[in-house]
Amino acid sequence: MASKVAVFGSFFVDLMARTPRFPVAGETLKGSMFQMGPGGKGFNQAVAAHKANANVTMITKVGKDAFAGIILDTMKNLNMPTEYIIQTDASSTGCALIMVHEESGQNEIVIVPGTCNLLNEDDTNKVEEVLKDCEYVLLQLEVNQDANERIVELARKHNVKVIVNTAPYAPMSDDFLSKVYMVTPNEVEAEEMTGITIDGLEAAKEAARIIKSKGVEVVVITLGGRGVFVSTNDKEDIVEAFKVHAIDTTGAGDAFNGGFLCALSEGKDIWEAARFANALAALSVQKIGTTVSMPTREEIDNFLHEVTKCQ
Ligand code: RIB
Repeated sequence: MASKVAVFGSFFVDLMARTPRFPVAGETLKGSMFQMGPGGKGFNQAVAAHKANANVTMITKVGKDAFAGIILDTMKNLNMPTEYIIQTDASSTGCALIMVHEESGQNEIVIVPGTCNLLNEDDTNKVEEVLKDCEYVLLQLEVNQDANERIVELARKHNVKVIVNTAPYAPMSDDFLSKVYMVTPNEVEAEEMTGITIDGLEAAKEAARIIKSKGVEVVVITLGGRGVFVSTNDKEDIVEAFKVHAIDTTGAGDAFNGGFLCALSEGKDIWEAARFANALAALSVQKIGTTVSMPTREEIDNFLHEVTKCQ
């Protein structure tokens, strides 16, 4: 049976426009499509894990405003428990302004975390009752970092393994990293963490060595369309991405992280988990949107079945 897992992190409402190119400073451009929907790296990751079949609890903080209704309605529709969606009127629910390039599917994002910058000790204390029964907790860097630090302390108290998706990059103390089991930076974040430009396998190995010297056991550097570099204590290798036509890469990293969490909770090893997570990323980039582009378990299994037949 799969173990319980938790995602502690952000929920934002995504306001997305598709554009023929990114505007320069001072320029106004006509976009071709607008979509508003649930997002935020934490929520995307929790939904990815949930739709892949994980027993996952999402913990976040939203306002008492219309945007908060979007997370509650989405979770209700997906049959996800909402008891750890904390509400406050101290700020507004966070939002993200996203531009997606029509041809490449690449994006540019500005986030305004709102209530996700206000996770306090009362909130994190409430999380202890969930964490103590979990095998893994997945964090990102879109909430106030002192809250992440408190979660890491609670996780250590209850022997819960912490995974940190280091996005968007923010400085992390050595003490924080020493309590983390696994990190999943992309190439840019890996460079920000180590000063090493990830321009090849040797650079990825060196960056992983530096991160592991802080006490992290597993380093997974995502390399976009090329796949992921995985470094454990006894093996280092690339797990290649599945080649698909991307129409919107926003949330692909979240699909990957949620998929990885789900696979680990099912007892898959790191290598199987990376392949499973790559499948979620490949499926998510073929749809427009973030939370709404996360695949179901049936879609993941069918995809893996088809690609295995072709190999
Ligand atoms: O990773 C994609 C996510 O980044 C979007 O959903 C947006 O909300 C930002 O957090």
